[in-house]
Amino acid sequence: IFDSVPQAPPDPILSISAAFRADASPRKVNLGVGAYRTDAGAPYVLPIVRKFEKHFANDPSTTHEYLPQDGFTKFNRLSARLILGADSPALNEGRVVTVQALSGTGALRIGFAFIANFIGQRVVYVPNPTWSNHRNVVPQAGLPATRSYRYFDANTRGVDVEGLLQDLSCADEGSIVVFHGCAHNPTGADPSKDEWRRIVQVVASKKLVPFFDNAYQGFASGNLNTDAWSTRLFVQSGMDMFVAQSYAKNMGMYGERVGALNVVLRSPKAVDAVRSQLKQLIRAMYSNPPLHGARIAAAIMADEDAFRQWEMELEKMSARIRTMRTRLRDALIKNGAPGNWDHIVNQIGMFSFTGLTSQQVAFMRDKYHIYMTSNGRVSMAGLTEGTVEYVADAMKDAVLS
Ligand code: PLP
Ligand code: LMR
Repeated sequence: IFDSVPQAPPDPILSISAAFRADASPRKVNLGVGAYRTDAGAPYVLPIVRKFEKHFANDPSTTHEYLPQDGFTKFNRLSARLILGADSPALNEGRVVTVQALSGTGALRIGFAFIANFIGQRVVYVPNPTWSNHRNVVPQAGLPATRSYRYFDANTRGVDVEGLLQDLSCADEGSIVVFHGCAHNPTGADPSKDEWRRIVQVVASKKLVPFFDNAYQGFASGNLNTDAWSTRLFVQSGMDMFVAQSYAKNMGMYGERVGALNVVLRSPKAVDAVRSQLKQLIRAMYSNPPLHGARIAAAIMADEDAFRQWEMELEKMSARIRTMRTRLRDALIKNGAPGNWDHIVNQIGMFSFTGLTSQQVAFMRDKYHIYMTSNGRVSMAGLTEGTVEYVADAMKDAVLS
C-alpha cells in the first residue's frame, strides 16, 4: 500500500536546519530558521520563563490533567487581551472566541479548517512573498490552493501598496486575506499606519475577511502594543475576522507550541456555536492542547511584575537584532561589497531580505558553510559579534563571483 506514495519536497525552512546540523565545519553559521540566539549563538530561555518553570515544578498542586479542547481558560483570556488590547470593544462586548492552539501554525490550521468546514470553499489570498508554510497549511486544511496579492516591491524594497490595493480590489467578495500583523516574514517590510488605513478600507468595502497572523508581537518593535496596532485597527473597524497568535518568538517557547486563535465576530450571536465547532475540530485533531507552556505564558501575563520583566526581555532581544542589522550593514560598507545595504537596517523583525539570489545563497553555503533560505532571507538573530564580519565577507564574495 505504500509503494505509490510520492516523495514530498523538503520544507524550505526546516530542511535548512537539518542541513546545518549535518555540516561538520567549525565555521558553520545558521541564518536559516527564525529562532532567537544570544550573542554567543546559543538558544535563549527567558529568565521569567525559567522562573515559572521552577515554580510550577516545585508546586505540589501542579498536575498534568487534561485541558478542555479549547485549552487553558486563563491563558485564552489573557492572550486575547494581549493582542486585542485591554479596552477592546470586541472583547468587552463578548464577540471574541479564543481557543488555545499549537503555536501560530496550529492557530492557522484550526482557523482554516474552521473556514473550510463552516464558511465554505473561499479563496485565500497571501502576500507575495509570504512565509512558505502559509501555502502549505491552507490546502492541508481543506481549502483551495492560495492565491497571491502583490506585496513586496523589489526596487524600493518596501511594500507595493498600490499593487496590494489593486489586487485586493479585484478579489471576490468573501475571500480570506492573510496579513502579517507586524514584521512581515520574509521581507521585513510592513505597511505604514496610513497604508494600513487604506488597506482596511478596501478590505471593508470589498467585504473581504482578514486573517491576521501575529507571530512576532513584541518582537518587532520591542513593544507589545505597537506590534498589535494593525490587528487592532481591523478589529476596531467591526468586521468578522481571524487572529492567530504565537508565543514561540516573543516568549522563546518555540518547542512548547503555545499559541491561540481568536475569532472576532461582528455580533455575539454565534459565539457559542463557533466555540462549539472549534472544540469539535480540536477534539478530532489532537483532543486538547498541551498545558505546560500555556501555564507559564498565563502566569507571566497575569502578574504585573512578571509582565514588566517580559517586556524588558522583549526590548533586549529586539535591540540585539537591531544591533546586528547595523553591524552587518556597516561590515558590508567597510569591506566594499558592491550595492546599497541600507535595507538591512530599515527592515523590521527577525529577518533581513537581503536581495541575495538563490545561486549566491548556494555559493555561501558551499564555500563558507553559511546557511539561509534560498530566497536570500537571513535570520538576523543567527548573527553574533563573532560571526558578522565572516558573513559580510562571504556576502561580498558571493556578490562578486
Ligand atoms: N506565521 C509566520 C509568519 C511565522 O513566521 C511563523 C513562525 O514563527 C508562524 C506563523 C508560526 O510559527 P509557530 O508555529 O512556531 O508559532
Ligand atoms: C521561520 O520562518 O523561520 C520561522 O517562522 C520558523 C518556521 O516555522 O518556519
